[in-house]
Amino acid sequence: MRAALTALTDELKRLKSAGVSAVSVSADSIAALRKAVASRSTKAHVPAFDGEPTETPPLSSRPGVTQAPTRSPTASTPAKSVPVVGTLPPPPVFTLPAGDKTTRWEWLRDYVLTHPVCTKNVRPGKKVVLGVGSLEAKIMFVGEAPGAEEEVRGEPFVGPAGQLLTKMIGAMGVKREEVYIANVMNWRPQTPTPEGVEQVGNREPTPEEMAFCLPFLRAQIEIVNPDLIVAVGATAARGLLGSSAFRTLGDVRGQWKLFAGKPVMVTYHPSYLIRQESMGPVAERKAKRAVWEDLLKVMERAELMISDKQRGYFLEK
Ligand code: URA
Repeated sequence: MRAALTALTDELKRLKSAGVSAVSVSADSIAALRKAVASRSTKAHVPAFDGEPTETPPLSSRPGVTQAPTRSPTASTPAKSVPVVGTLPPPPVFTLPAGDKTTRWEWLRDYVLTHPVCTKNVRPGKKVVLGVGSLEAKIMFVGEAPGAEEEVRGEPFVGPAGQLLTKMIGAMGVKREEVYIANVMNWRPQTPTPEGVEQVGNREPTPEEMAFCLPFLRAQIEIVNPDLIVAVGATAARGLLGSSAFRTLGDVRGQWKLFAGKPVMVTYHPSYLIRQESMGPVAERKAKRAVWEDLLKVMERAELMISDKQRGYFLEK
């Protein structure tokens, strides 16, 4: 089954790189995929991030694409889709109220969580997601968009990638609550899904969606006023630096850039590290070391203490 899923993923990637942006899939195929994904995703495994190699778990406990569906489509399910990507209005223009950080952040939270465009883009029962963390944070992490767990809990980075991000922050000697964590998007980018069925998988936000949500991120940066920003993953980097700022993430990873007057360190997304785990211990260690070197630069710039042990995390022994 794993080989079949890998072959399917490869084919979809090939089609995408050939310019195909949509494929039609029968309800039976979706049902079969859901069954396969559900059987792989009972309990998400999150690799360690403390300088030690991860003990590789059995394949059956690795994270699947997303949580198990609440209802499987059947052949008789009408292929009706919940309205998703439509044309968005221009990005919102608003002014934060005067007051202290808490007053301004709470105003922003209410504004974003009740914004009609945001609420229209989440499915019933799911949540719009604003950043969380310390309003006094020196470091702000910015990711892509909420996923399945995040839109349920209304908090960024709480799924497997988020748990790994929390470990990465811990490896820096900092608590999750001491930094601020946000996304370039405030809702989970939707994919056409038959009515009443949970979305499987995630898609990248469109440039239009990111442009719409960017004022919300700028407002969070204005309120928190961090010393620096860490952009995790290519989508976050594109959201902040612009879609033509680089070709591949490797072109900018590990470099300081600028957004809203703040230094931005670009690094890999924790999901990438989770994926590297299945490529073997060497690939996993190399990817973690690359991210760790970026985070060491962040620690230096934020004037955090760095022990010799920390400096040596993920180096070949
Ligand atoms: N990935 C992200 O980029 N953001 C989240 O909030 C969760 C996963």
